[in-house]
Amino acid sequence: MVTLSPPTWSPSSWRGYPAQHQVDWPEEEPADAARQRLHTFPPLVFAGEARQLQAALAEVAAGRAFLLQAGDCAESFHDFSAITIREKLKIMLQMSAVMIYGSTYPVVKVGRIAGQFAKARSAPFETIDGVELPSFRGHMVHDDAPTADARIPDPDRMIQAYHQAAATLNLLRAFTKGGFADLTRVHMWNQEFVASSPEGRRYERLASEIERALRFMAAIGIDLAEAQSLHQVDVWTSHEGLLLDYEEGLTRRDSTTGDWYDCSAHMLWIGERTRQLDGAHVEFFSGVHNPIGCKLGPTATPDEVVELAERLNPGRVPGRLTLISRMGSDRVRDVLPPLLSAVREAEQPVVWVCDPMHANVFKTVDGVKTRRFDVIVDEIEGFFAACRETGAWPGGVHLEFTGEAVTECLGGSDTVLEEALSTNYMTLCDPRLNARQSLDLAFHVAELMRGPWPETAS
Ligand code: PEP
Ligand code: CO
Repeated sequence: MVTLSPPTWSPSSWRGYPAQHQVDWPEEEPADAARQRLHTFPPLVFAGEARQLQAALAEVAAGRAFLLQAGDCAESFHDFSAITIREKLKIMLQMSAVMIYGSTYPVVKVGRIAGQFAKARSAPFETIDGVELPSFRGHMVHDDAPTADARIPDPDRMIQAYHQAAATLNLLRAFTKGGFADLTRVHMWNQEFVASSPEGRRYERLASEIERALRFMAAIGIDLAEAQSLHQVDVWTSHEGLLLDYEEGLTRRDSTTGDWYDCSAHMLWIGERTRQLDGAHVEFFSGVHNPIGCKLGPTATPDEVVELAERLNPGRVPGRLTLISRMGSDRVRDVLPPLLSAVREAEQPVVWVCDPMHANVFKTVDGVKTRRFDVIVDEIEGFFAACRETGAWPGGVHLEFTGEAVTECLGGSDTVLEEALSTNYMTLCDPRLNARQSLDLAFHVAELMRGPWPETAS
């Protein structure tokens, strides 16, 4: 077992480093009380589960599996129901069925769910209907209503976030282990509005082929009832580990290994805005033993990335570190290859993943934040091309989606037009792919995943 935590590290040692995008709680006493309560709460996930996910990610790092990481940009305290959780899970299961069937590789499924409540924002203020307000920073910090009062940070929201994460995780566990994710239900995950669309019909055909394969296996005497992997799936949780008060509050020492784990989620990632080498986030996540992600934008240099990998994964443990490339469709082909090569030369067994969402946001003339479906596909293609060129394994995709029929991203096979964006624009932060666009994207990704791959790719 590689020990990560250096002697100077503790769950609170980050407090001695510059911490970007933290909250100035208006009063110290309630903030302290909330921090103390988090320390006493039961962990949301267990260290052993984080280790299982790390082992699954090690398979991705070795070029034997893919990662599908997806969910909301920002989870909402308002939009919280069994239905929204179920719809997100359904689309995740559909996408992974498409990707597995298309590529014949296992797909590790990680939600941006059960904790994705805090946002780093480029600008501290935003203007809504002519009124300048503190930017919305996630429901863990304050409410999204466009008033000055609503935007006052409230530390009790960390407690509410914890409870919502617990309830979400509970339902996810029930759905994934209790029959809903059973592969024999592969047809039933197709929602009505998806089933009636071209990508939905394409999915129906794929689901029928999977059913036929299952019948074939039963016919030759394989006991399908006994095969647990047909009836249960693992869907792991993840979020950006932004608000370190919350993450520290849920950090526990594992009783079996003595190692520290951030028990707020199975996997945590460091955002593009908080990945400073000498910053608090890198310090905090260097000491917890969960699998860790780190976003890399177009300004990342090879030296910086190698140094980040060294800080976050000094033991070169496969599956420990996932580097999430978010370069922009116009930059990825130039900027990514030197990073892939440098990390390879440093013999870092990382997972490389493409986030085709965050560097492709733009505002329409009406000021609506959106992304184009074909630009998203283009960045993924550029990512696969960069990996192919350097012999790296394209480990997967990191997406923002929802199971609802929202109109937030432009395009897709059922083209969402600019004038239709306001029809059902619901996101609290960045525009998400709707269910149909997500399924459509899964077919594109499955094509790319099919290879062929050079012998050296891993
Ligand atoms: C996000 O994942 O929602 C996000 C803000 O990403 P990034 O840190 O890459 O900008
Ligand atoms: Co986002």
